[in-house]
Amino acid sequence: MNIAELKIDEAKCVHCGMCVKDCIVHCLELNEESKIPQFVKGKEYNCIKCQHCLAVCPTGALSIWGKNPDDSADIGSINSEELLSLIKSRRSIRHYKPENLDSERMNKLKDMLKYAPTGVNFHKLHFAFVDDIEVMDHIRNHVNTKLVDVLANPVVKKTHPHIASLRGAIADGHDVVFRGAPHMVIVSVPADAHCKKEDPLIALSYFDLYAQSMGVGTLWCGFAYYCFKMFPELSEYIEVPEGYRVAYAMLFGIPDVKYTRSAQPEEYNITSVKGQIKDLSLWQAIKRLYFNVFR
Ligand SMILES: Cc1cc2nc3c(=O)[nH]c(=O)nc-3n(C[C@H](O)[C@H](O)[C@H](O)COP(=O)(O)O)c2cc1C
Repeated sequence: MNIAELKIDEAKCVHCGMCVKDCIVHCLELNEESKIPQFVKGKEYNCIKCQHCLAVCPTGALSIWGKNPDDSADIGSINSEELLSLIKSRRSIRHYKPENLDSERMNKLKDMLKYAPTGVNFHKLHFAFVDDIEVMDHIRNHVNTKLVDVLANPVVKKTHPHIASLRGAIADGHDVVFRGAPHMVIVSVPADAHCKKEDPLIALSYFDLYAQSMGVGTLWCGFAYYCFKMFPELSEYIEVPEGYRVAYAMLFGIPDVKYTRSAQPEEYNITSVKGQIKDLSLWQAIKRLYFNVFR
């Protein structure tokens, strides 16, 4: 279905025009006579499937792309203090119980991902879940065995002695990369995504907080990400789709550590913007458009 299909329950529509007002690409209008929402002629192709029209309709009269408003999640009330407390208390977890997460929490985590925003509502991320500890062990063993050899390489030792120095620990059986985690989620992004860098990280940020809110520990894993870049057989193993590339990895599982208080991070340098903008030439802006934005 490439053209948006719009259906209005005329008995429910109260002609408030909220769907028209909230349409980001201005593809809706109220019919002049009936005041029922309809596509502006030819603009149905502009729809980015954000479903704001469906979500904003006060009476649930609007269905688009075959979505029934009755199937939408309820908008619950959110306790901002609890959310802040979660943000303050979440920790990077590097000690895990060597067991699989229950399927209820695993499924909730997977299902949540589709709610994370993507630029221009592109919504084409791919998530590979290592949801069985035996599969995770298979990856762990493969990576650690290869890393022991890679880090013994004289060039690596000379140019990156700090990284090469991890070899001993890995050879001694310390899981420096995967921290004994039973699970991992790897997010991949297609080359033509509008926000290639941002979308995957936003999705994992949501995952991070939601997981920790359910007592599931997480670890952003730069190390694992580098291993995916280094060992292409891993991308093949997790079946990264054609035209996609691995964007990041997060470890998770039941924590085997409990924190009793928050950390006390240093303050950021936060400023308030004021004063007049010093203008630059239009040519400068166009140059930057091509070199900084379009590139
Ligand atoms: C993008 C990113 C990559 C990270 N990569 C790793 C990693 O490879 N291994 C690791 O042990 N910790 C990793 N961390 C965890 C950080 O070291 C951790 O966030 C930091 O020490 C602060 O601890 P906290 O998350 O408990 O507040 C990473 C964190 C981020 C945000």
